[in-house]
Amino acid sequence: MTTLAGAGVVITGGGSGIGAALARRFAAEGARIVVNDLDATAAARIAAEVDGWAAPGDASTPDGAAALVGTAVDHLGAVDLFCANAGVGTAGGPEAPDSDWDLAWQVNVMAHVRAARALLPGWLDRGRGHFLSTVSAAGLLTMLGSAPYSVTKHGALAFAEWLAATYADRGITVQALCPQGVRTPMLEASGRAGRLMLDETALTPEQVADAVVEALADGRFLILPHPEVAGYHAAKAADPERWLTAMRRLQSHLDTPGSGSTPARRDRATHDDTEETR
Ligand SMILES: NC(=O)c1ccc[n+]([C@@H]2O[C@H](COP(=O)([O-])OP(=O)(O)OC[C@H]3O[C@@H](n4cnc5c(N)ncnc54)[C@H](O)[C@@H]3O)[C@@H](O)[C@H]2O)c1
Repeated sequence: MTTLAGAGVVITGGGSGIGAALARRFAAEGARIVVNDLDATAAARIAAEVDGWAAPGDASTPDGAAALVGTAVDHLGAVDLFCANAGVGTAGGPEAPDSDWDLAWQVNVMAHVRAARALLPGWLDRGRGHFLSTVSAAGLLTMLGSAPYSVTKHGALAFAEWLAATYADRGITVQALCPQGVRTPMLEASGRAGRLMLDETALTPEQVADAVVEALADGRFLILPHPEVAGYHAAKAADPERWLTAMRRLQSHLDTPGSGSTPARRDRATHDDTEETR
């Protein structure tokens, strides 16, 4: 995508956090925006702020995803950029109830599949389309304390990779946004591991939106607002055993009663872990 000026954009989960920041930033660039969110009040508020259209509803169901794309085409004429951004941060491990695993699967993965199903016929006819998948660094690495989130974000990344490989030569651009901590309600609600990331390395949603606007222009697949994630990912690929050892130590730090998430303690843990992954 060379310019956002005049572009027709859809953002799921656009009523809060990263989605709302994308809506504001894209609007400032001249985009026309449809704001989806499960929270109808939030969708309406952000849509009004960016002079766009609210399309409240569940972006993860077959009917919800199809209706969203249909409504967006009615408002915009065509969807130039679809941001599959809505996500849920389900906590726990295998003991988490199936309903939590299912919710994470539906919202973090199937919403993307169903959006692509609705978008691709029109995009392939036009010979162009742009799909931005909000994944997470957890899709490249892991999120301690949240197995459903880690597993489904890996799934979202795998789907984005597949889409990119399959359709790049037919005019479809796919990008995967993989931030670490971002100061949004989701991170604040994400328990101890999440709070551990809420130190000075956490970005604001606005900083993430700036990184996205910069990356939209060059079309690179991975968008890493925290550049250090590239190093962690490379270290994991180069030596998975060593990377797992580092993660085990971080989990042990989290399990230690009284070990806090103060910046000093967190820096030490991160530094050791980073050294371990090199
Ligand atoms: N905050 C972080 O640290 C962080 C880091 C990496 C990736 N992410 C990802 O960024 C995305 C946005 O998260 P955020 O941090 O802005 O959280 P947020 O909680 O501020 O916003 C998420 C929004 O998605 C909406 N939503 C949830 N399920 C929906 C559904 N089925 N249909 C439509 N809307 C739905 C919620 O109502 C909410 O308004 C998520 O995919 C999340 O996994 C967040």
